[in-house]
Amino acid sequence: MTTDDTAPHLTWTDDDEPRSGRFGDVYFSRDDGLAETRAVFLEGCGLPDAWAGRRHFTVAELGFGTGLNIAALLDLWSRTRPEGGRLHVFSIEGFPLTADEARRALGAWPELAEAALALTEAWPERTPGFHRVDLPGFHAVLDVAVGDVDWALDQWSGAADAWFLDGFSPALNPGMWSETVMDRIAARSAPGARVATFTVAGAVRRGLSERGFVVEKKPGHGRKRERLEARHVGDRRRGRCRPTGRTDRRGRADDGRRPRDSRRRHPVGLAEGRAHDHRDRGPDRARRRRLDPE
Ligand SMILES: C[S@@+](CC[C@H](N)C(=O)[O-])C[C@H]1O[C@@H](n2cnc3c(N)ncnc32)[C@H](O)[C@@H]1O
Repeated sequence: MTTDDTAPHLTWTDDDEPRSGRFGDVYFSRDDGLAETRAVFLEGCGLPDAWAGRRHFTVAELGFGTGLNIAALLDLWSRTRPEGGRLHVFSIEGFPLTADEARRALGAWPELAEAALALTEAWPERTPGFHRVDLPGFHAVLDVAVGDVDWALDQWSGAADAWFLDGFSPALNPGMWSETVMDRIAARSAPGARVATFTVAGAVRRGLSERGFVVEKKPGHGRKRERLEARHVGDRRRGRCRPTGRTDRRGRADDGRRPRDSRRRHPVGLAEGRAHDHRDRGPDRARRRRLDPE
């Protein structure tokens, strides 16, 4: 169960796209949401080449939402998985959807049916804390942290090989792109970690580059002119890099290191003023998330 503090206040557009009433924004464009996910996040992180030859690969995502990015990731992994490879996915969501809502959203893409079914049948609990979803058919495990991004990143001590930064636009939702969040991303990046996001906002580019990422603008998908790719090169001024290794659901390493604060805390609701009202302003509204002002 979610509480009023964590409900996404979901509504559906005339095109049956899920929309967050809390943030006044859509999760993706139904027209080309999957293509956009593949272009921005999967290709943006150099997948599948980046996991070639790897026994373990870790993807971290800010903003689990409907699970579209993760379903597309699982689909790609199932087709290109290295021999014996295991995928660990860590995703953060402060305002979780129900499995039925995700099912409805993901139903737009029959080509993702297998991954969507696996994900929605094992849909993580929506109570605050870390929830593990085993996906044996995909040789993968998914840990969803239900809570505020800052808290969840602080609790997780894993090391991501790839990051999907998908927390609504910085203009709409600055809390997902704060300096603290950037610090934690750098601190929890494996050597050479890749970052992909739809936004090319200056603050995001600077934030990453100040923390040891080489940042590049790339041609965007669809109507979005540009997107961002970054790679961690290890010359960190502010972030710390942890070694990649086997970890449990909270990212504790084999040596049993524990997260600094193992208490469960409730997600911090976003202040009203942070979610700007971007209600329908024309036919392009469904793409607004990717067309944030920069
Ligand atoms: C653009 S949507 C993510 C779409 C998702 N990746 C998908 O594939 O459907 C952004 C997500 O970030 C979540 N979010 C926004 N602010 C947050 C915060 N401060 N902490 C945790 N989650 C947050 C929203 O609830 C929303 O689900």
